[in-house]
Amino acid sequence: MVITLDGQAGSGKSTAARKLAARLDVPYLDTGAMYRAVGYQMLQEAVSLDDTAGILEVARDLDMQLDCGPTHTRVSVFGRDVSEAIRSLDVSRAAAAVARVQPVRDLLVCKQREIGAGLGAFVSEGRDQGSVVFPDADVKFVVTADAGKRAQRRLDDLHAEGEEATFDEVLTHVIERDANDARQWEPLLEPGAAIVVDTSDMTLAEVVDTLESYVRERVVDPVGA
Ligand code: C5P
Repeated sequence: MVITLDGQAGSGKSTAARKLAARLDVPYLDTGAMYRAVGYQMLQEAVSLDDTAGILEVARDLDMQLDCGPTHTRVSVFGRDVSEAIRSLDVSRAAAAVARVQPVRDLLVCKQREIGAGLGAFVSEGRDQGSVVFPDADVKFVVTADAGKRAQRRLDDLHAEGEEATFDEVLTHVIERDANDARQWEPLLEPGAAIVVDTSDMTLAEVVDTLESYVRERVVDPVGA
């Protein structure tokens, strides 16, 4: 059984995907972590954000291992666990540059399919999972939320981490990021392409309950199917 979750940054899809995988007791594949791992290595090698050829070289030479379990995806590069290090703001910016290089996307898409084939049943989360990587997935979700709500959630996270930011700054960033990402997941908004879950007025628990009930409605035995 393959379940894909795509959608907007800040919609809560990462946490929801992880919790859904835990409920179903299947591995969770966080594909953003792969773009981040390439971004991390780019920074290690001082490759600049606009050096497309350099980014491709880093991606081609990268020894990246993923460990996917029902509550986590851990990622190592050249044998070193970078699961926490890839969460920094610098790596986020580098990962966004990586995601714009089509040959790198092609490489990571191949790797994601390879990993998926090895996992059998899993929940995969990203921007292009239901549209490009696993078009035959059993259940496809698109998770959205209105921009103001997503900006407020991001602002709350930043404040909790002790970072300074205003609502307007964060909202501008959210809108810019949407413009960059939308072309990847928008095909899934075509009628019948995916189940759209708008999380604007939902708690995380409600989101996970909703996803789980759709899966159980459609797949009789989520682990065995
Ligand atoms: O989801 P996360 O923030 O970890 O993703 C890191 C970067 O990789 C983002 O810029 C996101 O747009 C990009 N990405 C992508 N395709 C995916 C997963 C993430 O382009 N399947």
